[in-house]
Amino acid sequence: MDTPTPPVCDYEGSDYQHSFWDAGGRAYEDAVEAIALKRLLPPKGEFMLELGAGAGRNTNRYANYQRIALLDYSRTQLEQARGRLGASQRYLYVAADVYRLPFVDGRFDGATMIRTLHHMAEPALALSQVRRVMAPQGVFILEFANKRNIKAMLRYLVGGQDWSPYNPEPVEFAALNFDFHPKAVRGYLAAADFSIDRQLTVSHFRVGALKRVIPLPILVRLDALLQWTGALVQVTPSVFVRTCAIGRPGQRAEGRALFQCPACQTALPGADHNLTCEGCGRTWEYRDGIYDFRIKDA
Ligand SMILES: C[S@@+](CC[C@H](N)C(=O)[O-])C[C@H]1O[C@@H](n2cnc3c(N)ncnc32)[C@H](O)[C@@H]1O
Repeated sequence: MDTPTPPVCDYEGSDYQHSFWDAGGRAYEDAVEAIALKRLLPPKGEFMLELGAGAGRNTNRYANYQRIALLDYSRTQLEQARGRLGASQRYLYVAADVYRLPFVDGRFDGATMIRTLHHMAEPALALSQVRRVMAPQGVFILEFANKRNIKAMLRYLVGGQDWSPYNPEPVEFAALNFDFHPKAVRGYLAAADFSIDRQLTVSHFRVGALKRVIPLPILVRLDALLQWTGALVQVTPSVFVRTCAIGRPGQRAEGRALFQCPACQTALPGADHNLTCEGCGRTWEYRDGIYDFRIKDA
């Protein structure tokens, strides 16, 4: 029997990239996130894991990494990403659950998780999986949705919101959509053996009226100027944190299998074809350039 994992917010078949980003009036958010990422990414790296990659909106921003694994639970999101980025050896497309990462320990020297923690009912469990696959001293960049943001504080002040932005518990404002308190996120990261070395606040001006009235380049410039204040206080709806994988002995995985069975954790040598696990006998499909490690009967 497989151990049950938390529920997944399923994007299968969703046109998220088009409706939310391309046609959704979010050029400001996209631009300021790009700036934050640029500031936090190391100058170079080998193997990056993009968790909850979606349609690959951010993937081109990891130009300094030699190779990038795009991981998402939704196969159709990965199909869109592959359509945008292509079938190059540089990209590995993996359909899998963040709670059951199908990689051997210590495999990545870089990882990002952007706009994805907010779908995690068990964020600490998800982050412990991310830490497991990171090499010692690997850089992990996490974006999270901040419940202690100015709009939420004002709404709470005037009685327009029943949940407190100051309470460290996550708030589930829609099914499987969570906002987190910055202090709680720092706690989850510490528990998973990530040390924080930088925090940036992002989307200071995520207000419809401001976005309509103030020209985009000015709004982006102002946000870029303010992102540094995240080192002192975080009251924006989005926060970016750069962390370092610490605390666990062990070597960086070299020359071993990349994948491991998400059901029984046996290493799975080989690539570019279906992978059959010698431990539990399951076969994991490889089709049209996408590995599928989702456990559908858990
Ligand atoms: C809001 S989208 C963000 C996509 C991309 N990071 C971006 O910023 O454009 C969240 C993504 O997380 C994926 N996701 C949600 N829960 C997941 C899980 N448990 N394991 C893997 N992916 C998950 C969804 O399929 C979706 O593509």
